[in-house]
Amino acid sequence: MTDHHTPSAAVSLRGIVKSFGTGDTKVTVLRGIDLDIYLGEMLLLVGESGGGKTTLLSAIAGILDIDEGNIDVLGVPLSALPAGKRTTFRGQTMGFIYQQFNLLPALTAAENVAVPLLIQRINRSEALRRARVMLDRVGLGDRAEFLPKSLSGGQQQRVAIARALVNEPRLLICDEPTAALDGPNGQKIMELLREVGRAPDRCVVIVTHDSRIFHFGDRMANLTDGRIVGIETITREGTA
Ligand SMILES: Nc1ncnc2c1ncn2[C@@H]1O[C@H](COP(=O)(O)OP(=O)(O)O)[C@@H](O)[C@H]1O
Ligand SMILES: [Mg+2]
Repeated sequence: MTDHHTPSAAVSLRGIVKSFGTGDTKVTVLRGIDLDIYLGEMLLLVGESGGGKTTLLSAIAGILDIDEGNIDVLGVPLSALPAGKRTTFRGQTMGFIYQQFNLLPALTAAENVAVPLLIQRINRSEALRRARVMLDRVGLGDRAEFLPKSLSGGQQQRVAIARALVNEPRLLICDEPTAALDGPNGQKIMELLREVGRAPDRCVVIVTHDSRIFHFGDRMANLTDGRIVGIETITREGTA
């Protein structure tokens, strides 16, 4: 069945199954995930700790092989591609923000942000120029030459966001982006993600269990016992 009013799915997950281990120690973490993420939206993914949220993000990013099912990203059958092609596709289309920032300690903020461009073989001066532009966008234009250790937690997460956005990804994947931050910094980061990450031709998926940021999302999907058990539209007070 097709419905031409249905917005186009940027990410389409069908029947995703993933286990770890073998024999007595085998644990099936994802037990048949069906989920669509649409262009223009910020989707929150919630669920209990150890429930498979990071596993699912890794599968969407093509970092992790799945056992069963299909993952389509922007019309590309990601789960059917060999690992090398998945890596290339990821570099061109996705940004990933980790819970613990994962900045390289010996590199300045600008150098950290430039890494995804250098991997794509953009020359160093151009990569650094674009990195500085992106740092400016996240309010850190005056911190470009600082090392991570000289930045606050909120600033480090801003650097990580700039790094994830520097190649203008159409799919931004965030794993508990506010977990290491206090309340006000968490709010600022979410405002930033909405402002710079979300656009009509892009989408953002955010794993979180931080109820203080739930109202920033457009929809919330609940991962329980290896399945998506509910999706709700989030209504924001003061917006139509
Ligand atoms: N590489 C791995 N090898 C073995 N088990 C893993 C691996 N990655 C995750 N798991 C297990 O899968 C389950 C889900 O983990 P995870 O996706 O990190 O959950 P969440 O992000 O929801 O807290 C946990 O029981 C975890 O121990
Ligand atoms: Mg996790």
